[in-house]
Amino acid sequence: KEKIIIGVVGGDGIGPFITAEAKRVLAFLLSEDIKKGRIIFKEIDGLTIENRAACGKAIPDDVLAELKSCDVILKGPTTTPREGDQWPNIESANVAMRRELDLFANVRPVSVPEKGIDWTFYRENTEGAYAIGSKGIHVNEDLAIDFTVTTQEGSDRIIKAAFDYAEKSGKNKVTVVTKANVIKTTDGKFLDAAKAIAKNYPTVEMDDWYIDIMTAKLVDEKRRSQFKVMVLPNLYGDILTDEAAEFQGGVGTAGSANIGKQYAMFEAVHGSAPRMVAEGRGQYADPCSIIRGAGMLLGHIGYQEKADQLQKALDICGLYEKKLVLTGRDTGATGAEYADYVMETLSHPNLDESY
Ligand code: IPM
Ligand code: MN
Repeated sequence: KEKIIIGVVGGDGIGPFITAEAKRVLAFLLSEDIKKGRIIFKEIDGLTIENRAACGKAIPDDVLAELKSCDVILKGPTTTPREGDQWPNIESANVAMRRELDLFANVRPVSVPEKGIDWTFYRENTEGAYAIGSKGIHVNEDLAIDFTVTTQEGSDRIIKAAFDYAEKSGKNKVTVVTKANVIKTTDGKFLDAAKAIAKNYPTVEMDDWYIDIMTAKLVDEKRRSQFKVMVLPNLYGDILTDEAAEFQGGVGTAGSANIGKQYAMFEAVHGSAPRMVAEGRGQYADPCSIIRGAGMLLGHIGYQEKADQLQKALDICGLYEKKLVLTGRDTGATGAEYADYVMETLSHPNLDESY
């Protein structure tokens, strides 16, 4: 593509702080192509809880139109109101965006080389327990009902994406995670879809586990490195990826790619932490997770080498941070200082040998 438009959505709470830092890192890595006009940043400011509350929509119409004018989106976290909050009970902007832009594959890598962990989660991102957003039914005082939805097409496309990746990356193994022993109809359909698709990938081994035992296996030192690529319905993916990220240093360290046929959006795994901002500490928010997301964005738009460099620099910065914390020293760094540190590391002439 001749021109790539990167939409930058700050979101709520700490979102604008950390997104600005991730954008700075992207601008640093892409400076040449920005000068050539090949890469264009487009700031999209309107995705705030105030605006959403005012129009009663998870994504205001003008914001949605702006999002659709971009090729890829870098998005800060957004606040999701719950019933009884100070805000009206509107749907999560995140969930709405995944649906509106049909971002069906939520790809979340977790890698901890020293623990033998190299996991990539393919979380179904548009249906399952998230399919109908906040439109469950309060039948009466006693009875409330939500729905879970599984479609053939929705299952097939995410499962294929996982198998394609397993094949291409040489990992050659996909683990399907469901609760098909109890949620027989919808999870059963997902598992059946996986078994059928696996037949088209003779070099990729498939196994399947239920979500409950899977949460246990991830903490099992002897068995966890047997997992490579995991594919799961939406809610299980939500839960298991938070657990997985904990091995890498917490949800604050994990990036998340939301990929569809036409659009793709990259974000942090964590929330908008409004309290941090209320306490005047927004500038201390850790931009690591969204910078990981930015790294995945780079790979997606064809800058794989730069994506790998950024990944490496973040690993180095993360190890250093961990060491400081372990030795009882609070880094006390602002997000901007952390991003500077990442860029310094990127500029290091021995980046390749130093890790
Ligand atoms: C995530 C988040 C979202 C989700 C929330 C914010 C709606 O937890 O990206 O994992 O549940 O998908
Ligand atoms: Mn989550």
